[in-house]
Amino acid sequence: MVLVIPEGYVIRKAKEDDINGVIYINSVTLPEHYTTSFYNSILSTNPETFLVVEYEGRIIGYHMGRIEYGLTFKGMPRFVKKGHVISIAVLKEHRRKGVGTILLKTALEEFAKKGCEVSFLEVRISNEPAINLYKKLGYEIVDRIHGYYNDGEDAYVMEKTLETKF
Ligand SMILES: CC(C)(COP(=O)(O)OP(=O)(O)OC[C@H]1O[C@@H](n2cnc3c(N)ncnc32)[C@H](O)[C@@H]1OP(=O)(O)O)[C@@H](O)C(=O)NCCC(=O)NCCS
Repeated sequence: MVLVIPEGYVIRKAKEDDINGVIYINSVTLPEHYTTSFYNSILSTNPETFLVVEYEGRIIGYHMGRIEYGLTFKGMPRFVKKGHVISIAVLKEHRRKGVGTILLKTALEEFAKKGCEVSFLEVRISNEPAINLYKKLGYEIVDRIHGYYNDGEDAYVMEKTLETKF
C-alpha cells in the first residue's frame, strides 16, 4: 500500500512525552475523555497503533488503538483477533487535508501486521465526518448500540475486514 502524507506533516509512533499533547487534542475535539493512566497503558501495551502526526514540531492529530479478541459481525460470527480504533482526532485547523486518512491507514497496516483479521470501532450516529472517513476506508456499519454514550446518543459499530490492500 502506498501512503501519501500531506506536505509538512510527519506521522510516527507516539512516545510517553506525547501523551500531554494527545490529551490536549482529545480535550478540544471529543466529548469522550480518558485518564492519563489509560493513555499510558495503551501506549505501553499497543505502541504500534498509538500514532501521532506532527506539524511544525507540534502534535496535531493522533490515533489510539488496541488489539482485542472477539466475534466478527459480518457473515458467520467467528472469534478473531481484532484491531479496535479507540480514539482518533485531528485539530480543527488541520482537518480535510488527509491527516485522519493517513493515521487510520497506518493503524490498519499495523493491525494487519499483528495478525488482526478485522478492525472495528464505535462512532456517534451523528458524527458524519468520522463515519464518512471510516466508510471511505472500507468500514461498514454492522450494529447500533442504543444509549452507548454518556449523553444517551447511540453508537454505530463499524467493522472492516483487513486485507493487504486498501
Ligand atoms: C474524523 C476526523 C478524524 C477526520 O480527520 P481529517 O484529517 O479531517 O480526515 P481526512 O482529511 O483524511 O478526510 C477523509 C475523509 O473523511 C470524510 N470527511 C472528513 N471530514 C468531513 C466533513 N467535515 N464532512 C464530511 N465528510 C468528511 C471525507 O470522506 C474525507 O474524504 P474527502 O476529503 O476526500 O472528501 C476529524 O474530523 C476529527 O478529528 N473529528 C473530531 C474527532 C472525532 O470525531 N473523531 C472520531 C471519533 S469516532
